[in-house]
Amino acid sequence: MTQATAYRAAIVHCLADPARAGLDASYAHYEDGVLVVADGQISDIGPAEQVLARQPANIQVLHFENKLVTAGFIDTHIHFPQTEMIASYGEQLLDWLNNYTFPEEGRFADPLHAKRVASFFLDELLRNGTTTAMVFGTVHKASVEAFFTESDRRNMRMIAGKVMMDRHAPDYLLDTPESSYVDSKDLIARWHNKGRQLYAVTPRFAPTSTAEQLEVAGRLLQEHEDVYLQTHLSENTQEVAWVKALFPERAGYLDVYDHFGLLGPRSVFAHALHLEQAECERMAATDSVISFCPTSNLFLGSGLLDLPELERHQVRVGLGTDVGAGTSFSMLRTISEAYKIQQLQQHKLHPLKALYLATLGGARALSLDDKIGNLAMGKEADFVVLDLHATPLIQMRMKNTHNLFEQLFVLMMLGDDRVIAQTYIAGRRQYRRN
Ligand code: GUN
Ligand code: ZN
Repeated sequence: MTQATAYRAAIVHCLADPARAGLDASYAHYEDGVLVVADGQISDIGPAEQVLARQPANIQVLHFENKLVTAGFIDTHIHFPQTEMIASYGEQLLDWLNNYTFPEEGRFADPLHAKRVASFFLDELLRNGTTTAMVFGTVHKASVEAFFTESDRRNMRMIAGKVMMDRHAPDYLLDTPESSYVDSKDLIARWHNKGRQLYAVTPRFAPTSTAEQLEVAGRLLQEHEDVYLQTHLSENTQEVAWVKALFPERAGYLDVYDHFGLLGPRSVFAHALHLEQAECERMAATDSVISFCPTSNLFLGSGLLDLPELERHQVRVGLGTDVGAGTSFSMLRTISEAYKIQQLQQHKLHPLKALYLATLGGARALSLDDKIGNLAMGKEADFVVLDLHATPLIQMRMKNTHNLFEQLFVLMMLGDDRVIAQTYIAGRRQYRRN
């Protein structure tokens, strides 16, 4: 065993969904806490005096002042190849894809370009305190190869996959049912469960895959029991109408995916803004997951997700940035927009629920809550050190807070990458703000 390290600071982490367990039972907070990390895992946590009393007297203790330690953030939906086209003006989904996204993704035919962007992207996640993400590549196999190589180098727990897309996109971005099968299978063999890397079968969305290719996606899931599926669903009303026209024999958008065996507990559907009642029920019955992407939904004018409604249906929901349609890598900013989207619908998003969605709820959405999502003993030591004095305004406003919830809320409404003082991956510091 390597030498353990103790981190002393204010600590908060989620223990359960506040909607189910109630607020008081859903978190642990130590105003003067200690987190002990050994061999990349959390080996102890609690009030400082109690934890230090049971650790060796000579244990190394690092003290963080005016900081709040919590679990690393989990982004359940993001596109690494769209990093350099974030903030592209003026369009809604389908024109945005054709005018900006597809040409940008074409650049990933060059593996060196893919490596450079993957490296920047992962460093940007670290700068924002995001320690795990579910990530789209492009149609090019080499884009995902480059991504996993860089992610493995940083020892980050990542889920990613090669886009499958065999129609309704420029020729230079199309694969075929056969090539997408062979390429995906090879990437699964090379990367799934290699270190902390995990694979997601990735049909872009129903309009860009033929029935033959969606069938291939279903086959890949059947042949590899524990790989994931990621795609988009019911993001934009024109898109929904297009899917109905392309698949008139199906009951609706979700039924297209259902027909090809793509629903299930490891299937993550981005957006899902325009679901019908029966579709919500089917999501719940199959234990499928929705990724709520607030900044993207506002940026593309796609719609407002009704979180309490999905909660009533007991559908698992995670938070996603959806960069490059999303406008920030920061999960704090993402929470801020999620809060406002709920406000527009007369719903409240409590700061603790928001923290849950960005950490343990995200881990549950990705079926990784046995490994990450909070700071429980035995979990992988992915954590962030938040700066309660990150900016003059935050520092000033903090003085006028009275409890943890108010502190968290201030960080969520005013915070972004500037709040992230340090990011730890499996017990190693991988980012420190200068
Ligand atoms: N639907 C299909 N592809 C995409 C994409 O790249 N981004 C978003 N936001 N929606 C999509
Ligand atoms: Zn997306």
